[in-house]
Amino acid sequence: MNPRIRDWRHRRVWLVGASSGIGAALAQALHNRGAQLAVSARRAAPLHALGLDGAVVLPCDATDAGQLATAHAHLLERWGGLDLVVYLAGDYRPMRSDHFDLQVAEQVVEVNFLGAMRLASVVVGHLAPGAGLALVASVAGYRGLPQALCYGPGKAALIHFAEILHLELAPRGIGVWVVNPGFVDTRLTQRNDFHMPARITPEAAAQAMIDGWTRGTFEIDFPKRFTRVMKLLRVLPDRLYFPIVRRITGA
Ligand SMILES: NC(=O)c1ccc[n+]([C@@H]2O[C@H](COP(=O)([O-])OP(=O)(O)OC[C@H]3O[C@@H](n4cnc5c(N)ncnc54)[C@H](OP(=O)(O)O)[C@@H]3O)[C@@H](O)[C@H]2O)c1
Repeated sequence: MNPRIRDWRHRRVWLVGASSGIGAALAQALHNRGAQLAVSARRAAPLHALGLDGAVVLPCDATDAGQLATAHAHLLERWGGLDLVVYLAGDYRPMRSDHFDLQVAEQVVEVNFLGAMRLASVVVGHLAPGAGLALVASVAGYRGLPQALCYGPGKAALIHFAEILHLELAPRGIGVWVVNPGFVDTRLTQRNDFHMPARITPEAAAQAMIDGWTRGTFEIDFPKRFTRVMKLLRVLPDRLYFPIVRRITGA
């Protein structure tokens, strides 16, 4: 389905959204496995603070297609090509329909979905067979959930977008992965005021992604004890889904 990645030595990897949380943990883990890394996010200081020997630090804003294109051109010139591009940039604000803030909602969709589209438009035409693009979405994109008014729709769109890319690029040997984490303990989830079942550390999330890339599947989802439940909810008919989710979440 997708290329299997088992050996990271000298693999040229660009992580967009690597200054904190899952991206920072993934950068560290791939660096330890010998990958050749480029790390991006808006803030340069935390990217440098990762202290990854030999990594290329390319601060850029994923809401700006020009900045992504410039960073990509720099990497092509320096490395000659890329083996894996991972989009981790994201924002999350809990939002309910009775406190709908359109400006915030647009900002969240802008980075969570449109940023990924922009990155794909820049890199896809340059990926050779065996190389690929991984998009970090969320299980919150499976179906509607309370408080996810501006987060869920962008993630649902991202999953859909990844499916289309995968359909079209896999036959050419180009990998497209969608990564759907459950709850991970990062600054994003610190905004939640509810109990987050099966929450894992960013380091565990990074390890789950690395394990996922060895399998060659389209979707990399974790932790399984949580994503299995979400997958079951996803296939329930509406007449069961809505009352069950209301009861579980108290919505
Ligand atoms: N934590 C969870 O439970 C969870 C669950 C499911 C999915 N996810 C997804 O996992 C991804 C990583 O999130 P995280 O939890 O690790 O949160 P995080 O620590 O806040 O990481 C988000 C990263 O995105 C970067 N970023 C944000 N806006 C950007 C922009 N406009 N341009 C470039 N980079 C930008 C941030 O750096 P700068 O601020 O320096 O730009 C940071 O490096 C997100 O897509 C998130 O939706 C997280």
